[in-house]
Amino acid sequence: MSAKKTLNIGMIGYGFMGRAHSNAWRKVSNFFDVRYRPVLKAACARDEAKVKAFADIWGYESVETDWRKLVERRDIDAVDVCVPNDLHMDIAVAAARSGKMLLCEKPLARSTAEGVAMCEAVEKAGVLNTVWYRYRRVPAVTLAKNLVAEGRLGRIFHYRANFLQDWTSSPDLPQGGTGLWRLDVRAAGSGVTGDLLAHCIDTALWINGPISCVAAMTETFVKERKHNLTGRIEPVGIDDACAFLARFANGSLAIFEPTRYARGHKALYTFEINGERASIFWDLHDLHRLRYFDHRDESVVRGWRNIHVSDGDQPYMSRWWVPGLQIGYEHSFVHQAADFLEAAARGESAAPTFRDALETTKVCDAVLASAASRAWVDVR
Ligand SMILES: NC(=O)c1ccc[n+]([C@@H]2O[C@H](COP(=O)([O-])OP(=O)(O)OC[C@H]3O[C@@H](n4cnc5c(N)ncnc54)[C@H](O)[C@@H]3O)[C@@H](O)[C@H]2O)c1
Repeated sequence: MSAKKTLNIGMIGYGFMGRAHSNAWRKVSNFFDVRYRPVLKAACARDEAKVKAFADIWGYESVETDWRKLVERRDIDAVDVCVPNDLHMDIAVAAARSGKMLLCEKPLARSTAEGVAMCEAVEKAGVLNTVWYRYRRVPAVTLAKNLVAEGRLGRIFHYRANFLQDWTSSPDLPQGGTGLWRLDVRAAGSGVTGDLLAHCIDTALWINGPISCVAAMTETFVKERKHNLTGRIEPVGIDDACAFLARFANGSLAIFEPTRYARGHKALYTFEINGERASIFWDLHDLHRLRYFDHRDESVVRGWRNIHVSDGDQPYMSRWWVPGLQIGYEHSFVHQAADFLEAAARGESAAPTFRDALETTKVCDAVLASAASRAWVDVR
């Protein structure tokens, strides 16, 4: 019998993230030497037949159809929030009051005000928490962070990030309901800003420190769409695309562009950082590689290195296969689950905590405020 302590997981939502997280919970103890063993105790969603089918596939022991019941259950230790953004605050606050650890999907909240309430709830209750900004745990991105932290790039001059998709370009696409709640401002809070940009901002703050001010523009290209839940044509309240300039506290300049109207791009998240000595570039479509240019190399062989991040010396990779064999998208979720479980065994929250993730929400709010006012806005 395993000597490990168990941690009973209550999963809310069985969509895209419900599946990605369930996969991570199932794999994590097989690959990481974590002191807590997660147990898939209960899955929750409103449709009983569908949540039972989900529970059967992934091995959850039981189901609930009301998240309020799930967060009250005494046999649940940690609540994993994989539902649309408008439910994050209510679930997190209730679960914290019930003494549950919290793993919340990103963005933390629809607004800074909601995020503050969530931070206060987990801090008052003293419950461990994390937010699934798990691009930090793609090994090539973690390596990028390490290279910057070691000072290899020297002083940073530029940070440049894009997150390009094209799936909402058609005006025939409805808003509302599974997956499409992202187009409904009541459920999502904002459009590409809270969705795609939030990822870019979390990575940027983690690697390059705080952003002090932003100058943004946003656009809603399709102004009305049929709403799946009401059946009516309704105004579209989200930002379809966004572009902005930013200044980091360390003096570097940045440019960000998230959009769902870049025809031909499905999920092109890229970032490039230029420092006085070196530069790095990362691309989600090639996520196991990091491009690195070091100006200190001998000039005859100087050029962009294309690092295949698969060696045991590189972040997280000693837990997987052998050097040369790469991993993929789903592994970053396994890494976050592993880091959460290890931090929990030490009695600590895993980064980014709710409080860390609130910084990203503040930048997103500043971006929307700047776009509305057509002026530079300080991040408070
Ligand atoms: N970290 C990432 O890379 C990443 C990627 C995608 C989505 N997300 C985030 O994950 C969250 C969920 O997104 P998704 O893509 O899985 O959405 P989805 O539409 O695929 O799934 C949402 C799920 O929530 C369930 N749900 C809705 N209302 C509910 C309620 N009242 N009670 C219980 N269940 C309810 C739905 O049945 C569905 O199973 C969002 O906050 C999103 O921003 C994060």
